[in-house]
Amino acid sequence: MISAYKLVSIKDIQSKPSLKKFDCEVEPLNTFLSGYALKSDELGIGKTFVAVSDDGKICGYFTLSTAQISYKEIPNEYKIRLPKYPIPAIRIARLAVSKNMKGKGLGKDLLKQAFMKIVQVSDITGVYFILVDAKETSKTFYEHYGFIKLNDNELCYFMLVDTVKRAIER
Ligand SMILES: CC(C)(COP(=O)(O)OP(=O)(O)OC[C@H]1O[C@@H](n2cnc3c(N)ncnc32)[C@H](O)[C@@H]1OP(=O)(O)O)[C@@H](O)C(=O)NCCC(=O)NCCS
Repeated sequence: MISAYKLVSIKDIQSKPSLKKFDCEVEPLNTFLSGYALKSDELGIGKTFVAVSDDGKICGYFTLSTAQISYKEIPNEYKIRLPKYPIPAIRIARLAVSKNMKGKGLGKDLLKQAFMKIVQVSDITGVYFILVDAKETSKTFYEHYGFIKLNDNELCYFMLVDTVKRAIER
């Protein structure tokens, strides 16, 4: 069971030093949070949302940005009815849980929160795919939730926004 947390935009984090204490055991994801996430947010390149526990500790985060998939990259069975243009997407660029919170359902919860935000965006602009850049250690996590590998060589996975919308409606 995950304990209570608040999900806040990184720009609303009062204690910036707490960002440096976050450790998900994947160094590039720690470094991004402490060194680049706020700057990316201010620039409007990537929006980061941070899970803060009752005692002020950062227990997880995710970052969203816009993206697109070129028509030729889309697997044939997902091309049906699509125009031969780049198709709009939102990328879950990063998602991480601190090492002492892993295995308690927070990753699942953050993924759900990311889905809710993506669905909100899809109400006001075109967004067809959800993309995720997995790591070798997390690819089975995304497969567990139905993400499909975009191509054979990389760790990029996708899902249709419509699949998420239908799951929420159920
Ligand atoms: C991957 C990660 C986000 C999962 O978070 P978590 O809080 O430990 O996962 P949860 O406890 O919410 O698990 C939810 C479900 O996913 C499953 N799961 C968790 N990690 C998994 C993994 N690596 N592979 C397969 N399944 C996994 C759990 O068994 C659970 O299944 P259930 O709902 O059927 O019981 C977390 O381990 C992490 O931060 N890893 C390091 C950073 C990283 O690799 N991020 C992804 C790339 S950006």
